[in-house]
Amino acid sequence: MKNMLVTGCAGFIGSNYCRYVFNHYPDITIYGLDALTYAGNLTTMMDLSETGRFNFYQGNIQDPIVVNDIIRAEAIDTVVNFAAESHNDRSLQDAAAFIQTDVAGVFTLLEAVRQNNVERMLHVSTDEVYGSATDASFTELTPLAPNTPYSASKAGGDMQARAHHIAYHTPVVITRCGNNFGPYQYPEKLIPFFITRLFDNKKVPLYGDGSQVRDWVYVEDHCSGIHHALLHGAVGEVYNVGSQGECTNMDITERLLALLDKPKSMIKFIEDPRGGSHDRRYSIDSSKLQAIGWKPEFEFNLALADTVKWYVDHQDWWRPITDREDYRQFISAYYGRYLGEDL
Ligand SMILES: NC(=O)c1ccc[n+]([C@@H]2O[C@H](COP(=O)([O-])OP(=O)(O)OC[C@H]3O[C@@H](n4cnc5c(N)ncnc54)[C@H](O)[C@@H]3O)[C@@H](O)[C@H]2O)c1
Repeated sequence: MKNMLVTGCAGFIGSNYCRYVFNHYPDITIYGLDALTYAGNLTTMMDLSETGRFNFYQGNIQDPIVVNDIIRAEAIDTVVNFAAESHNDRSLQDAAAFIQTDVAGVFTLLEAVRQNNVERMLHVSTDEVYGSATDASFTELTPLAPNTPYSASKAGGDMQARAHHIAYHTPVVITRCGNNFGPYQYPEKLIPFFITRLFDNKKVPLYGDGSQVRDWVYVEDHCSGIHHALLHGAVGEVYNVGSQGECTNMDITERLLALLDKPKSMIKFIEDPRGGSHDRRYSIDSSKLQAIGWKPEFEFNLALADTVKWYVDHQDWWRPITDREDYRQFISAYYGRYLGEDL
């Protein structure tokens, strides 16, 4: 593994994955491809460019000419796909881009991998394709039962990868992880949304009674899990990535309040904007990946405290986003009627 194509490198997990590779694998050069949608950010990649081992292409994973040209020109041997429309709430407003990128885009990458004899592709997916967990945790054998246009589009991408492997022996491995947190996460997602609002003394909107359970994973653990599956996973297989980070939304909110020294009155309980259709619980069993030698390294409370500190110290990264008109419009359209004067 020498020349990697990493798609979605200007987003949250893709950029953290590039950092992980640069810190641990001195012989790998990364060619990044990102369309720079609203969620992709050039400033997120500034430190990557300083390594001298990162080359950025702006382009769309749905474009076969762009993808094939990079693979051929740069002698790419490995593809890792993070490029996606990734926000559930946005998918409820307009799902078209999700289907185009998360299904058709994945197909374009798979075709390019096959046609150019790329040695291996890792497709990054999500535990949300399993739907809502009941008593047991999700294993890789849990049937797919996505409940939003986002998770359905991710499931569609996973099925394209599975079928490509069966039909053409395309060497693709899939990972499915729970909710991530860490540096450089777009501030519309729960943890940075709450941190950046609390920092500015704005109330945070909590759906219902806050009892929904999410299985949180620190982003660097996700990145090491992806890389481990890439190196040691069997092609055609799926590997869940999780670190036993189950936590209710109320619990995570209280931890953030404590870390930022804010009172409980900063919580504004609102009705579920999805009319009660939010998945109740996500819970990941990652024993299959652990059986081939991976383990999570980060302790949840310490990683959360580090994440809060990162946002406090990096206003120069997130404030240009939260000040943007399109960001304010989205927050206002989604939460305006619930937050009222607290918006
Ligand atoms: N964030 C999470 O908690 C989480 C958890 C599990 C899995 N995942 C998966 O990990 C991947 C990355 O998620 P993220 O949170 O970093 O997302 P993100 O929204 O922060 O970043 C996505 C990146 O993809 C780029 N992109 C979007 N459409 C593109 C296209 N058509 N062509 C090229 N680039 C395009 C965007 O510009 C952006 O830089 C996604 O596949 C997501 O489903 C995310």
